[in-house]
Formats: sequence, C-alpha cells, structure tokens
Amino acid sequence: MLQKIFIKTFGCQMNEYDSNRIFDSVKKIGFEKTNIYENADCYLLNTCHIRDKAKEKVYHEIGRVKKIFRFKKKPLVIITGCVAQAENQEMLKREPYIDLIIGPQSYHKINHTILNFIKEKKKIEETEFDVVSKFEYLSKIKNNFSKVSSFLTIQEGCDKFCHFCVVPYTRGPEYSRPINQILDEAKYLADNGTKEIILLGQNVNAYNYNNNKLSNLILEIEKLSKVKRIRYTTSHPNDMSVDLIEVYKSSKKLMPLIHLPVQSGSNKILKSMNRNHNIKEYLKIFEKLKQINPHIEFSSDFIIGYPGENNQDFKDTIDLIKKINFINSYSFIFSPRPGTVAENLKIIDKEISIKRLEIIQKLLSENQIKTNKSLRNHTVDVLVENLTEDKTKAFGRSEHMTPVFFNGKQDDIGKIVKVKINDSNRNSLFGELINISKKKVA
Ligand code: SAM
Ligand code: SF4
Ligand code: F3S
Repeated sequence: MLQKIFIKTFGCQMNEYDSNRIFDSVKKIGFEKTNIYENADCYLLNTCHIRDKAKEKVYHEIGRVKKIFRFKKKPLVIITGCVAQAENQEMLKREPYIDLIIGPQSYHKINHTILNFIKEKKKIEETEFDVVSKFEYLSKIKNNFSKVSSFLTIQEGCDKFCHFCVVPYTRGPEYSRPINQILDEAKYLADNGTKEIILLGQNVNAYNYNNNKLSNLILEIEKLSKVKRIRYTTSHPNDMSVDLIEVYKSSKKLMPLIHLPVQSGSNKILKSMNRNHNIKEYLKIFEKLKQINPHIEFSSDFIIGYPGENNQDFKDTIDLIKKINFINSYSFIFSPRPGTVAENLKIIDKEISIKRLEIIQKLLSENQIKTNKSLRNHTVDVLVENLTEDKTKAFGRSEHMTPVFFNGKQDDIGKIVKVKINDSNRNSLFGELINISKKKVA
C-alpha cells in the first residue's frame, strides 16, 4: 500500500542530506512524499540538539502535529537526528505520541523498523553507532536528490570535544567514508544534473580514508567533467593542513569561500572552549590562503557570552571580525548543553550576552552590506540554480555563495553565466545577464 510521509528537517546541512537519504530508503517500502501535514500517514521529524532552543522546537512541533491530527487517524511518528540520539528513551517517556526513535547512525535500519512497527505496534528506539553499515547501506540506494547544487556527506562525527558542543555525543566518533563510495555518489549526482558538490562533515577537513585526505578527494572529484564547482563544510582550523591549503593553488573548481568557524577572538576563551588553537594560528591560515588567492573570503560561527567572556574577550572578537572581514557568518549566544564540560560553568548575565550578540550581528551585517555593495557594476560568475517562484527571474549563487537574482530563463539552469550587478542588499545581489555562455554545460 502506498503511504505518504511528511519529513520536517531542523539543524545543519547534514540533517538535510540525511532527510533526503532517509526518503531514498523509505521509498523502497512504498512511501511517497507529501508537503501537506493533513495528508501524512507518517510524520518524520529530523532533529537538531545543538542549542536548547533547537531541542525545544521538537516538542512544539509534535504538539502541532497532535493538534492537526486530533480528529484524524494518528500518523506514525518517527523522530530521527541528534535529539533522537541524545534523549532516546526519554523522548518516548516525555511524549507518548512518538512511535519510533532512530539515531543518526542507525538510518540503515529505518525500513525494517517501520515495517516491524506496522506489524507489531511495538515502540522502539534504535540509537547504536553503526556508521559503517549505515553508509554501506545508503551507498547501495542511489542518492536521488541531484539538484544543481547537491550535498554529499564524506565524514561524520567528531573526536574534538569542544567544551560547549554535543556533536561528539550525538554523531559519535570521527568516521571517513571510503573514497570509492564517495566518488560513485559524486558521479551519480553529476550524471543526474548536479553541477556543484558540497562535501559535508562535522569536521570535513579531518577526512582521511587510507591516507586519502580532503585535498586528494577534491582533486578526484574535480576530474568529473560535469562537476563545475566544489565546496566543503564545516572545517576546523586545526585540520587546515598544508596539503589542503596548497590545493587552492592547483584546483580549478574549488570555490574561494571557506567556512572556518573560529567561535571567539579571545585566546583565553578559545582555551576554555578546548578549541586547541589560538588566534595567531588562525590568522596564519587566513594569510596563507589570501597569499594564494586574494579573492578567497572567510565565513565563521561565533559563540557569544561563553562563560568567562569579559569585555576584553568580546573586544578581541570584534577586532578579529574587523581584521578578517568575515562574510556570511553565524553568531549565537552560548547555550549550555547536557553532558558537556561547559554545562556547569557559570553563565554570564543574559542581558550582556544579548547586547553583545546585537553588536556582533550588526558588525557582521555591515560587513556583508559593504561587501555586496562593492560588487555593484562588477561582473560575477553565477551558477544558475532555479527560477524564482513567480518565474520572473532566475536565481543562482556567486562563487562566494551569495544569492544572485537576474533576468535569466529556464534554459540557464545548470549553467555558469556572467551577471553584471546593479543592486544589492545585505543578503543578495541583483543584476543583468551579460553573456550567456555559448557552450552548454554538458
Ligand atoms: N565542527 C564545527 C566547528 O568545529 O566549528 C561546528 C559544528 S556545530 C554543528 C555548528 C556551530 O554551532 C558551531 O560552530 C558553534 O558556533 C555552534 N554551537 C555549538 N554548540 C553550541 C552551544 N552550546 N551554544 C551555542 N552555539 C553552539
Ligand atoms: Fe562540535 Fe565542531 Fe567542536 Fe566537534 S569540532 S565538538 S563538531 S564544535
Ligand atoms: Fe544539529 Fe546534529 Fe547538525 S546537533 S547542527 S543536527 S550535527
């Protein structure tokens, strides 16, 4: 019997990738996707545990589903992702509306678990770390989400244990997928229309499979002629190895934007976060890459109001932002997470954290506005991803990931075109197509 599944995803890009792969799997047992809550026979929530707010959203969302289905047949409710892993049995106790809990390293068991539940109605929690079997299983099921720009997970988990972070507990130890598995998936995506591959990992630049590092992988993917752009995220400064920095010299397809979260500009705070690097080392990476290609830009994540952050530490973060001129960055107030070292540290005054966050976000936003403004009257290369909803414009991204809207057509989708920028705001660029590449991207 055909069943309809509604999938809602919270959190990072890896969760987005996972949701797509989960759908690739459940399709095999007769599920099709719906975007309408009311039509769902199965409701799957792929969750994030990174901050407390992200976790609470899960319970709100279930409350919403309960309301929608008050007078209807209850859907099968499945919780996947990092909250599933972190809270496991607790979730079943706190919210009896939930039927199945499946952690991120158990997605290969999802079909079996669902079929079993339909037969026996037994609530179950699958949260073992079995990442090898997961990727072996998912590699046999084709990744059918080849968009112009597609995610591809190459590495999962983390051994770094930053004192604020739950990821080592929710995703498990660092694991690098076999290189051939990744190349097969990249080829399949490219053969089905993908022009840009975004390699994913919690510490993507820690990738190492039998001494094949991220730099080798980038050069291998680059050989696929249909792939025009390569990106990777998220990197840790300690894994910006010489070979990875050097690959910016030889690679023709690696994009000049590096998401390299620094978290804080203060050495004291970095130490207490257990980041294992200091600002001098971070700046060295920045300078080396700028020397190779001055066009390379940096983006980052910042944690504001980490325990012990005083005015000077905060000023150090501001100074670093001014020095590097980060674009496209994220900033959040520190959220104490269960089981982490920082959980029990004395948190600083909430009002102060809010004020600091406002200052940082204003500064980041000003940088962004300035950077985008500087592109007016310049030509940028845009990989065209789609038409806007009203079909009046085309939408794509610059080499620095900035959304660009211009007078493109359906036929431009999947091509790299040149757009002359005539306007901009904080988030986007607007312009006119100046030259449709004669050569169609194969
Ligand atoms: N592995 C990446 C790294 O080392 O930078 C980060 C991955 S984490 C999924 C994404 C971001 O969430 C982090 O860079 C950090 O800024 C933020 N984050 C993690 N734990 C947090 C916490 N307890 N409170 C606030 N922000 C947090
Ligand atoms: Fe979390 Fe990243 Fe630190 Fe790992 S390296 S513990 S994922 S912030
Ligand atoms: Fe959230 Fe897990 Fe990603 S905690 S940010 S979904 S790795």
